[in-house]
Order: sequence, then structure tokens, then C-alpha cells
Amino acid sequence: MESIVLIGFMGAGKTTISKELAATLNTRVVDMDDVLVERIGQPISDYFEEHGEPSFREHETNLLKEALNEESVIATGGGVILQKENQKVLSDKLVVYLKADANILVQRIREDKVNVRPLAIKNDDGDLKRLFFSREKLYEKLAKITVDTSEKLPEEIVNEIIQQVAS
Ligand code: S3P
Repeated sequence: MESIVLIGFMGAGKTTISKELAATLNTRVVDMDDVLVERIGQPISDYFEEHGEPSFREHETNLLKEALNEESVIATGGGVILQKENQKVLSDKLVVYLKADANILVQRIREDKVNVRPLAIKNDDGDLKRLFFSREKLYEKLAKITVDTSEKLPEEIVNEIIQQVAS
């Protein structure tokens, strides 16, 4: 099986779906944010504060390339599509875009008290929606498959991905 790369904005469900999808397909899962937190040794929001976003993006690009060396389901961070190098790397990969309505994304981001995103601290709801709209075309362009996660259960999303990959 080819690796499956999940992309989408913060709150799209990449972490949850990657775990269920990998379990269903009996393959390895790489949650890039989790691995990055381990590597940088601190929460992403602290890292952004101390070292800046560009340095985080470098770690992210290195990890993306590394993760793709082995067959897996990869949950990327929402900003992975920003770097030209990552866009090139992802252009011929099985990329699945988990799409959701902007209001639902913001609601999920605000409700997540465990994973407090740096970009959610400094941006208000309107800014977050604008950030999503500014990235939307990139997600769409890189996607081989798009699944709307707004009103669906994880199981339904996983089944839809598997069906679309097979067809
Ligand atoms: C980011 C999304 C986050 C994390 C970092 C930056 C972004 O990942 O990589 O805070 O730029 O959208 P999630 O999409 O998993 O929240």
C-alpha cells in the first residue's frame, strides 16, 4: 500500500482519523505534530514563541520527507502545505484533504484545551477563518481525494477514504 497523507486546517480531524485509518489498514501512523513536539522538546506554541515559525517549518519539512520513506498514514500539521518544498514532495503522493466548514473548524480549535495551537492564541476567530480561506486553494490543489468531515463520524470518514482510495 502507498502511504496516505492527511492534510487540512487545524481542527479538521487529521489526528483522530489518522489513528483510525492506520488501525483499519493495519499500518504505521505518524502524527507529525506529536513527533515534532518530541524532537523540539517543548509544546509547539512555546517553540513558536522562542524560535519562531520558520524554524518550526524546517523541522516539519525534514520530518515530512523522513516519514514518507516508510509506508504509513501521516497526519500532517495544518501548515504543511505552505512550504514550496513540501508542495513538491506531496505533488505525487496519495494526499487526502479533510475539509470542514470554517465555523466548525474554529469551534473545534477553541474547544480543544489539550492542544492549544500557537496560531489560535494570537488570532481571533475572524483571523482564523481568514487564515483558512487563504490556505483553502492549496489544500484543494494538493488533494487527490477530498472528504468533508463537518458532519460525519470518524468511522464514516475512514470508510469514505478507504472507498475512494480503492476506486
Ligand atoms: C499549524 C497547525 C498545527 C501545528 C502548528 C501550526 C498551522 O497542527 O502544526 O501549530 O500552521 O496550521 P494541527 O493542524 O494538527 O493543529
